[in-house]
Amino acid sequence: MPDSVLITGASSGIGRALAIEFSRRGYALGLCARRLELLENLQHELSRNHAVEIAELDVSQYDAVKEVLFKLAEKLGGAKIIIANAGVGERSLPGEGTFYLDRRVIEINLLGAMATIDAGAEILKKQGGGQIVGISSVAGFRGLSNVPAYSASKSALSTYMEGIRHHLTQHKIAVTVINPGFIDTAINTNRKFRPFLISAEKCARLTADMIEKKVLSSTVPLWPWALVSGAMKFIPERLWCRFKT
Ligand SMILES: NC(=O)c1ccc[n+]([C@@H]2O[C@H](COP(=O)([O-])OP(=O)(O)OC[C@H]3O[C@@H](n4cnc5c(N)ncnc54)[C@H](OP(=O)(O)O)[C@@H]3O)[C@@H](O)[C@H]2O)c1
Repeated sequence: MPDSVLITGASSGIGRALAIEFSRRGYALGLCARRLELLENLQHELSRNHAVEIAELDVSQYDAVKEVLFKLAEKLGGAKIIIANAGVGERSLPGEGTFYLDRRVIEINLLGAMATIDAGAEILKKQGGGQIVGISSVAGFRGLSNVPAYSASKSALSTYMEGIRHHLTQHKIAVTVINPGFIDTAINTNRKFRPFLISAEKCARLTADMIEKKVLSSTVPLWPWALVSGAMKFIPERLWCRFKT
């Protein structure tokens, strides 16, 4: 039985590219997202290599997350890596009547990822070990003025993952936090400013390398984002709030 990886939000962008990359590396796949038709196309494309199981899942339907991930893992005969990747980006500012968008961002990016990690940890504990990966963002390093709820969701996800590492390590479960910079996917095509942009395919290659090395946390690509994000943290509050980010 080959090693297997479960990925949420695998129907497009980074999740889809990760599915293709891990398939190329010989992993069996358990893929989920809301758009089943896109998953069916991907399954058709990849199942010549190794087993590909798919399932419809909205990660903000928290009770369904456990059921779907358990079923996928069972069909694959286990899971080695579980990637909480599903996410949305919504531009919403306070007092503009768009609180429903902020809520959606937190429900999917933070609570949906936590539900995935919770179910994933249960699967891996029963198996005696494995790896949990969270796709966070460099947007979590500082509050971005155009997408503050998105920034908050990613900052909270990274903090949560840092907090669970001690407990999960005792169960032989590695915890990896991936912080992509700007990746060319549907989530940010409306943004004018996308510095150091890379393709989803390149992001997936770099991310899969980091996952296989079990890095604790990294930006993707490592450079220049490791330097930029380090510097971002030192920009004084008064100066930061003048930037439109
Ligand atoms: N692109 C970037 O520059 C960038 C940078 C940093 C971090 N990220 C993060 O990378 C992850 C993937 O985003 P992307 O850039 O690849 O964007 P994308 O192409 O829009 O992909 C988002 C994926 O998440 C899934 N998704 C959204 N809401 C969902 C829900 N409620 N339940 C289940 N799946 C859901 C979508 O599938 P369905 O619509 O079919 O459900 C889709 O497969 C996100 O967490 C994002 O925040 C992206």
